Amino acid sequence: MTAVGHTGHSRNAADPRADRGSAAGGESPGDGTRDYVELRGVGKTFTHGRQSRQILDDVTFSVREGEFCAIVGASGCGKSSILRVIDGLLEPDTGSVRVDGQDITGPNSQIGLVFQQFNLLPWKTVQENIMFGLESLKLSKAVKRERCQHWMSVVGLEEWSGHYPHQLSGGMQQRVSLARTMAREPSLVLMDEPFGALDALTRRFLQQEVVRLWQEGKRTGILVTHDIEEGLLLADRIFVMSANPGRIAAVVDVPFKHPRDEALQATAEFAQMKEHIWHLLTAEISKSSPYVRMRNEPSGG
Ligand SMILES: Nc1ncnc2c1ncn2[C@@H]1O[C@H](COP(=O)(O)OP(=O)(O)OP(=O)(O)O)[C@@H](O)[C@H]1O
Ligand SMILES: [Mg+2]
Repeated sequence: MTAVGHTGHSRNAADPRADRGSAAGGESPGDGTRDYVELRGVGKTFTHGRQSRQILDDVTFSVREGEFCAIVGASGCGKSSILRVIDGLLEPDTGSVRVDGQDITGPNSQIGLVFQQFNLLPWKTVQENIMFGLESLKLSKAVKRERCQHWMSVVGLEEWSGHYPHQLSGGMQQRVSLARTMAREPSLVLMDEPFGALDALTRRFLQQEVVRLWQEGKRTGILVTHDIEEGLLLADRIFVMSANPGRIAAVVDVPFKHPRDEALQATAEFAQMKEHIWHLLTAEISKSSPYVRMRNEPSGG
């Protein structure tokens, strides 16, 4: 639970209030005065036949209104499960989840989840998939069409509006999935590795688009990513997870002001932060993986 390789930016996450009230670098677009997302003591166990496996244990953190946080952790540690719990798709066994002061007991129209596996409807075109996301909203047809058009253009898929998912590359499907969620303009956006299948240029463009949206100050966001640099470029704070069972092991404040660009990435401070989070992650992974522990231990003698 205690942060390893501490550089003064991270705190022990054992205390449920450990991440409350910090400045998040001072540039968070939200007013920072109230918690928008609150998880307290969330636990989840899956059972297969006679075998039970606890995947989340006492997951406790909060995200302030307007804040953008990232979650990093080893594959299988429970990152997607946390997003599914917040989105109301997965019911925790213990603990509580509140968004905007309301207990989450099922799907909520204020929350948008960009799925790790795009979840597009194969029988609908790009345009129809995005429009489908808007179906349940009480908006005029003209507004829906306008939003759909806008987001197809942001993700660079206007020319592909009449194509079906199987006619698109993985990265294009990922962009449709992002557009489908963003077009709904949810006040809380949960993103599960939304840029993983994109080439470096498109990824950078869409990351900047996400930063721009947050600077407008209307949304709260949680991004799951395996890319520490992506977390450092986008997030106000980064939650580092441990595995088996998944917990929040450390919370790291990201001290950089926006715009965070290539020049920042080339600085020693950026490299130091990256190294710091990498150390936290490997320390957590080595606790649950004998192979990594063996590799990290100094050879005797
Ligand atoms: N519906 C389910 N039934 C049983 N086990 C599940 C279910 N969903 C997730 N799990 C298990 O829970 C654990 C955490 O899964 P989860 O998808 O949250 O991990 P993750 O951190 O998002 O991993 P990755 O980085 O690979 O996407 C895994 O061991 C997975 O097998
Ligand atoms: Mg996942």
